[in-house]
Amino acid sequence: MERIVYCRGDFRAEAQAHVSLFDRGFLFGDAVYEVTAVIGGRMIDNELHLARLQRSLSGLSIPMPMPVAEIEHIQQQLIARNNLTEGTVYLQVSRGEADRDFLYPDGLVPTLVGFTQARRLVGTKGQREGVAVDLAEDPRWTRRDIKTVMLLGQVLAKVRARKHGFADVWLVENGKVTEGASSTAYIVTADGRIVPRGDSQATLPGCTRRALLRLCAEHRLKVEERSFTPEEAQNAVEAFMTSASSLVLPVVQIGNAPVGGGTPGPLTRKLQGYYLEAAGVQTRDITADDYPV
Ligand code: PDD
Repeated sequence: MERIVYCRGDFRAEAQAHVSLFDRGFLFGDAVYEVTAVIGGRMIDNELHLARLQRSLSGLSIPMPMPVAEIEHIQQQLIARNNLTEGTVYLQVSRGEADRDFLYPDGLVPTLVGFTQARRLVGTKGQREGVAVDLAEDPRWTRRDIKTVMLLGQVLAKVRARKHGFADVWLVENGKVTEGASSTAYIVTADGRIVPRGDSQATLPGCTRRALLRLCAEHRLKVEERSFTPEEAQNAVEAFMTSASSLVLPVVQIGNAPVGGGTPGPLTRKLQGYYLEAAGVQTRDITADDYPV
């Protein structure tokens, strides 16, 4: 069955959906995006994603293409029309279409497109066994708090890491881990503190991070928001990362160093369970040995 996508006002078969050659998203990377997880046909933390979409647009002085409720309706239509039970909904808003010029004219109409991607999010091999991440210098611009489609730095870093046998890569700037190439990075200290970097322009304010820190507070887990070095991460008792597409993903190797004995740690397991529970995933939907909380 051909996928139905949303493109500039219409739902269409994907082969019939087109954006102009002169769209500034294509010519300048002048666009922002969001990825929302869908589990059991329901969007997870979507209000956070829509709030961040507004924040990213406002940071680039691009107007919202339509009210938030209408964007959410489009997401729901995409899920329904594609019978999506598990996967992601992608939204992208560019500044619009104009002849190529660094300076943009007033009054451009933003281009909104959206599509679904069916894939397994819950109980993946990585979530069960943990993944190895490489380390690389952060090659990106300085406004990483805006979720732009300028992702070439991440693309190259991920491809290089994959070539070297790693599942993903954590990026490093001035001797400190900024974040994963498409995820938020965390370590757990010997005294049981969960350590994510504090929010700043250096990293994307992760929606999964926000939701998870709320759960940590509810469950009275200790959190310390601060930067950490790659060496501290390699010597941490546990490490993990979060994103809409990987949920809570254990990290069991950083560079060449195994972390926490090379298996997912107990606190990471707990957080996986809390996150799924909050997302409304019934334990019976998960394969038997997925997340023993
Ligand atoms: N990426 N940091 C970066 C650089 C990211 O690209 C992402 C998400 C995150 C985690 O954010 P969230 O928890 O809101 O998904 C952190 C998405 C999944 C992507 O680019 O596909």
